Amino acid sequence: MRILLGVSGGIAAYKVPSVLRSLREDGHAVRVIPTRAALDFVGTATWEALSGQPVTTSVFDGAESVDHVRLGREAELVVVAPATADLLARAAAGIADDLLTATLLTVTCPVLLAPAMHTEMWQHPATRANVATLRERGVHVLDPAVGRLTGADSGPGRMPEPEDIVAAAHRLLAGTPEDLAGRRVVISAGGTREPLDPVRFLGNRSSGRQGVALARNAAERGAEVELVAANVEAAVLSGLPGSVAVTPVETTADLQAAMQAAADDADVLIMAAAVADFRPAGARADKTKKNPDGSVEPLELVQNPDILAGLVAERRPGQVVAGFAAETGDADGSVLDHGRAKARRKGADLLAVNAVGTALGFGDVPNAVHLLDAAGEDLGEGAGSKDDVARVVWDAVVRLLTH
Ligand code: CTP
Repeated sequence: MRILLGVSGGIAAYKVPSVLRSLREDGHAVRVIPTRAALDFVGTATWEALSGQPVTTSVFDGAESVDHVRLGREAELVVVAPATADLLARAAAGIADDLLTATLLTVTCPVLLAPAMHTEMWQHPATRANVATLRERGVHVLDPAVGRLTGADSGPGRMPEPEDIVAAAHRLLAGTPEDLAGRRVVISAGGTREPLDPVRFLGNRSSGRQGVALARNAAERGAEVELVAANVEAAVLSGLPGSVAVTPVETTADLQAAMQAAADDADVLIMAAAVADFRPAGARADKTKKNPDGSVEPLELVQNPDILAGLVAERRPGQVVAGFAAETGDADGSVLDHGRAKARRKGADLLAVNAVGTALGFGDVPNAVHLLDAAGEDLGEGAGSKDDVARVVWDAVVRLLTH
């Protein structure tokens, strides 16, 4: 595909050659259009060498071929990274005083802006208004990342990481819907652990991959995402885009507190974590020793609260609450029979029922789900990877949100 990569004059420009390289490695033809100020950070030779195409900043270079119009017509995607406060202002106002802003006025393809600036500039009413104007016009303005800025300051304003920019570019090229834009969603993932003593716990085999896939897909569709991660390995979390806020928890009580705290301003709550139904009646402060006579003390358990049922009971109007049910069939009924009964018992707007065994459901294996409503009626089904399942679940959630 033909991509225009605009670069405006911010320090984050030094990271953009890696965006260019990734897009080129994925087979795209990329023409770089820096602003004059961008060249103070990364020079023409770098952009020309990495793109294999000429680089100019002015509409008067190559005026005979009317570059800003030709480039704009041919482009299938425009990415501007970093997009400074000044660039956002000029784009919002329709100013065309260099090749990049002139080209932005001629394109009809999707436009993706990756802002980078100091927090004060990002939060200034002028910038807020410019971003709102651009988004209203259908321009995809990424939220900046939160973290260390150029000086000693830190906060929202960091350019989104190059891999997040590239991922957003791919979504636009693939036409992924932005149907969760403006929605705040909170997902639990992983499995809770209940300590027996300082070194031992009762736990389960949930890897957190399904919750991570849900978080990734929601972020791709434009949602603001919080993942409440119960004992999810760093390698699994590394599959998340940088925009997803991760809240690590360990026990069921921690998970419940985190979900309740996040529930207030959430549009969607999904309980994808495998919650320990029971916990030891009293965790010991010291490591339990073996008895010299070989006797074993019985383990007394108490039942944990049902977090999903609590979220359903406190659901706000318009909020969608969803859960997952890992089931096995048995003499009393099939996976789906148990799923329908659980859907009615839990009362969630959506229950995604999947069959588990040692080879199905847990870990990095294909998955299949039936989606049921609070009455146990079918809302859809899906199968495939955890990403495929995540897509099907969000498709159903979006239908629920818009009804
Ligand atoms: N869940 C929860 N709190 C619990 C147990 C489960 O919020 N204490 C949530 C899970 O996150 C999941 C859904 O409820 O979204 C169903 O979980 P599952 O373990 O299948 O159901 P249980 O209620 O534990 O029922 P049972 O184990 O008796 O089948």
